[in-house]
Amino acid sequence: MAHMLRGTLLTGILGALLLVGGNGFAEGDAKCTIATKGDSPVVKACQEGGLKAAKKVMKDMVKAAKTNGTKFECDDCHKDADRKYELTIDGKEKFQKLIAATMVPKK
Ligand code: HEC
Repeated sequence: MAHMLRGTLLTGILGALLLVGGNGFAEGDAKCTIATKGDSPVVKACQEGGLKAAKKVMKDMVKAAKTNGTKFECDDCHKDADRKYELTIDGKEKFQKLIAATMVPKK
């Protein structure tokens, strides 16, 4: 939760921070290193709000998938779901399934 508090303070200047590469206080917290290209919802969140936003989107996706009956844990795809989010070998592949699971059409 400490992350969130710090994030709130940063929200306004995150955009600028991302552009200049984040000097100092938000190191490691602000910038995405994995979701840097493509057009996944996570990449978009990274562009808009850095790691913090990405984390939120990932949580929402996991939640949505669960609602649709597919269960995922952060560490199904991330080796280190606390800091660097390095992907597991099949993380990318599972991600496609996660995305699919978040988009089960409601009728
Ligand atoms: C089904 C696999 C999967 C699950 C489950 C998953 N992630 Fe991810 N996550 C990914 C993939 C793949 C990417 C990179 C996405 C891209 O490049 O478009 C990613 C990217 C991220 C990033 C951005 C990291 C960076 O530096 O670019 C964060 C933060 C993150 N995930 C947090 C989480 C958290 C927190 C959870 C649990 C609530 C979670 N993820 C669950 C697959 C997953």
